Amino acid sequence: MKTVILSFLFTLGIFSNADVFAGDVKAGATKSAMCAACHGSNGVSAAGNYPNLAGQHADYIVKQLNAFKSGERKDVMMAPMAAGLSDTDMADIAAYFASFSRDGTPPPPPSGEESTAAESVTPVRAATVKPDYVPDAIAGKLLYQLGDQKRDITACIGCHGTDGNSDVLINPNLAKQHPEYIVKQLNNFKENSRNNAVMNQISGNLTSNDIANLGAYLSDTSAVGEVKATSVVVRKSFVGDVAAGKAKALTCAACHGSDGNPAVAMYPALAGQSESYLFKQLQDFKDAVETKGENGRVDPVMAGMVAPLSDDDMQNLSAYFASQTLNPIITKANAKGKKLFISGDPINGITACMACHSINGKGMDNAAFPSIAGQSVSYLKAQLEKFRSASRGNDKNSMMRSIAANLSDQDIEAVSQYMASLK
Ligand code: HEC
Ligand code: HEC
Ligand code: HEC
Ligand code: HEC
Repeated sequence: MKTVILSFLFTLGIFSNADVFAGDVKAGATKSAMCAACHGSNGVSAAGNYPNLAGQHADYIVKQLNAFKSGERKDVMMAPMAAGLSDTDMADIAAYFASFSRDGTPPPPPSGEESTAAESVTPVRAATVKPDYVPDAIAGKLLYQLGDQKRDITACIGCHGTDGNSDVLINPNLAKQHPEYIVKQLNNFKENSRNNAVMNQISGNLTSNDIANLGAYLSDTSAVGEVKATSVVVRKSFVGDVAAGKAKALTCAACHGSDGNPAVAMYPALAGQSESYLFKQLQDFKDAVETKGENGRVDPVMAGMVAPLSDDDMQNLSAYFASQTLNPIITKANAKGKKLFISGDPINGITACMACHSINGKGMDNAAFPSIAGQSVSYLKAQLEKFRSASRGNDKNSMMRSIAANLSDQDIEAVSQYMASLK
């Protein structure tokens, strides 16, 4: 029963960081023999269209194997491979490939034991087709780290980690992957032949040159040094002008506090919130007025506040509040809420909140995913209820509305308590 439920959770991609699937590396070494032909015995494959599995997160490998087995992810070669694997086989094989480092170096054997790594098969390099565009790894790195706000491309770094090594275990490592494979997957996401809501949206705005550049960067992230350091996002440097924002913030103080820590819980804390998220909200409040509620975020109070603000004012105000320190209200943690936040609820179709708001609740600034840590319970509850009734509809691709639709009143209470308790 336990494995049945777990595999179901993985199928839905709900589990994110729990190490519940501790497979047996030794058993995996034996079972992975049939994978070696394409993926290499140490998970480093010969041909660019066969992904490297060495050092990939075990959780991600299991999730993909389940997706190939269920037909949710389609591939003529992998479908028959995954069809015959039980949950235990998947866990063991995943543990085996995950035990290598990204370049295929086996783990040191435990003292007194022989290495579990199969004898390394030297893969035959497939002929590389000469592309008519010479990819630019530096441009790839900049796009990876910064995204491109004008073209609506979310930075990759928030989800796939610094230099392509992600902290969230269902988000794949991309470093040291074959560029051909990266290019193929981004095209599959773009054409919706591989389905993942976030990746489908992001890849939609990538050009073929962007994709080639990203492939070139990810194939060897360490080869691209600290390029144009000034344009690479450094946390705690802001797009807007903090001092100019502070001067403008006097009118906000009555409700949000002069430093973004409100005195009354119904008003959201703005201190330490993501700058890009704050900027988006201010624009959304204004858009709602201009489109008579068709687009944006409808709020009568904030509509009046943003009316006189220019884009520069909004950027500066966002920078100012983002630069302030949040004084979280002391709230007790909530076990049910914690479970929902970290693992989601597969039975009711609720994605784990940490996949986007991150494990500590601080969100992802590059993606304009808000920090919800230490925000007041009453404000968090009110927003979840608004997303649930769709009276707040400014979330791209209905990311929050589709999740909130499945939350019960008790879920909202519990998860709001938990989010408020995060520091
Ligand atoms: C005949 C060649 C072949 C064999 C054998 C094979 N694979 Fe694959 N595998 C592929 C190809 C091709 C893809 C990429 C599919 C795509 O483009 O979406 C893939 C993709 C994968 C992925 C997804 C990787 C990612 O980064 O998303 C996993 C996991 C995987 N294979 C595991 C296995 C395991 C485990 C076995 C052995 C039981 C195996 N494969 C055997 C060809 C093969
Ligand atoms: C909000 C989080 C998020 C952002 C931002 C994001 N990704 Fe992803 N990405 C994911 C997830 C989750 C998956 C795994 C999808 C699945 O389970 O099939 C993925 C999968 C991928 C894959 C397939 C990897 C494999 O091994 O098959 C590639 C390539 C990729 N992303 C590239 C990018 C690039 C390039 C960017 C930036 C332009 C980006 N991603 C931005 C979450 C994200
Ligand atoms: C009279 C009280 C009041 C004043 C003054 C006020 N706000 Fe607000 N603000 C609110 C309320 C109420 C909300 C929550 C709206 C909702 O429930 O969606 C809000 C929400 C926000 C949000 C969204 C926060 C989030 O986490 O999504 C931002 C950003 C914001 N205000 C910025 C400002 C700025 C900047 C100013 C000054 C120019 C300002 N506010 C002045 C009452 C006020
Ligand atoms: C796929 C990504 C994703 C997942 C998963 C997700 N969120 Fe969100 N969430 C967002 C985005 C994006 C926004 C901001 C939308 C906007 O631009 O206004 C948001 C906004 C919120 C807000 C409003 C914050 C504010 O300051 O107004 C709350 C509260 C929230 N999410 C809670 C949750 C909870 C609880 C879960 C899990 C049950 C969850 N989220 C899962 C992406 C996500």
